[in-house]
This record gives sequence, structure tokens and C-alpha cells, in this order.
Amino acid sequence: MQTMSHDHSKRAAAEAAFQHIRHGDYLGVGTGSTVAHLIDVLAEHKPYLKAVVATSNDTHKRLVAAGFEVATLNETGGLDRYIDGTDEINPDLQLIKGGGGALTREKIAASAADSFICMAEAAKCVDELGAFGVPIEVIDMARSTIARQLIKLGGRPTLRARTLTDNGHPILDVHGLELGDALAMEDSLNALPGVVTNGIFARHPADIAVIAHDDDVVETRR
Ligand code: 5RP
Repeated sequence: MQTMSHDHSKRAAAEAAFQHIRHGDYLGVGTGSTVAHLIDVLAEHKPYLKAVVATSNDTHKRLVAAGFEVATLNETGGLDRYIDGTDEINPDLQLIKGGGGALTREKIAASAADSFICMAEAAKCVDELGAFGVPIEVIDMARSTIARQLIKLGGRPTLRARTLTDNGHPILDVHGLELGDALAMEDSLNALPGVVTNGIFARHPADIAVIAHDDDVVETRR
């Protein structure tokens, strides 16, 4: 059996996710290297989409370069489908996202979509979320008060070096948090004043996961 390269796996997941797009969709597009493959597939097939919404400046640029006109979520009011990658995914299709720093706009898009399709390589599948750490976008003024609260919650926060999000905020990456109940931890983190968004997607998990394994892509629905 031949083993798929990292890049081939991402492309395979992107092709599988593309099959879910419908003629005339309002489509939300996530951020990251797997999404870059999705944009390549979109550019090759040029489906008719009523509008495309980007979750980062990088995705916006890639979509424009691929020939798509990009709308805002305020203009579309909602999304039929949202397609994005992930850093971790568990069997309930809950996710850790934000490795690429676009977690806030990604969570907004996921919450606004009728259907959220998540693309991943099998290596990102975990039984319990957390080994990747939890990215948290914070208001700079609250960075150290939030870090102290995170330590009380059992976490080990570090400031992501040389990074400000597209919204102009720093990111704390937190390891060591107990994520057995990911939804409870997502809500607890959201309750800390100054947290913009945390990278746990338990309240808005994926509806469909397309997971690229060595020799095929497996689809799971929630
Ligand atoms: C960006 C994200 C990405 O979806 C996540 O980091 C996965 O990226 P990649 O497709 O490059 O592996 O959450 O904020």
C-alpha cells in the first residue's frame, strides 16, 4: 500500500469536501493549508456560488487570486455551507482550531452556517482534545490577567511569538487544560473578561468530517 503524503492527504480531503458544495451556495471558506487546497479545487471547477465569505485576509487574497468575488458575512446574513480545516478533531466532531490564528472569524462562520464541513488528515483525529493546546485570542490589556486565570484552571499559557490576529489581538496558546468536557471548558474560557475567542469548537462542532486516511477519505456525520 502506498502512503499518501501530507499534501496529498490535504488535497484528498479538500476534493471530498468540495463534493458537498451546491449550486448557488453562500459558501464560507476557512483558513490554512488544507483550505489552500480547497481554493485550488474551487478555482479548477468554478462552481456557481451566490457569494463566498473569507475568514482571514490570507483566504480573502487567495480567493480573489482564484477569480472569486468575496462578500462579507454582513452582506450574506448567513452561510449555507462552511468548509475549514482543523488542528484536532474528536469522535463527536468537536475541534481545536486556531493554529493559523483565524479562530475568531472561523468560529463566527461556523456558527452562521447551516452545515459545517471539516477537512482533516487522519493524524488530527484524537480521542480527547487538548494535546495541540488551546489557542485563545485575547484583548492585549487583559493578557496577563487571563494568563493568571488560565494557570488557576490548570493551564500553561504561552504568548504566541510575533503574532497578532487579523483583528489586531495577541494569542495565548494554552497546554494542560482538562478537556474531557470540552463544551464546559469552552464556556469557562469564554467567561474570562478579555477573551475574544477560544479555539475549542464544541458549541459549534463540525456537522460532517472528511478525514483523509492513507488510502481513502472517510466521511463521518454528527
Ligand atoms: C486556522 C485553523 C486551521 O484550520 C488549522 O490550523 C489547520 O490548518 P492546516 O489546514 O494548515 O493544517 O484553525 O486558524
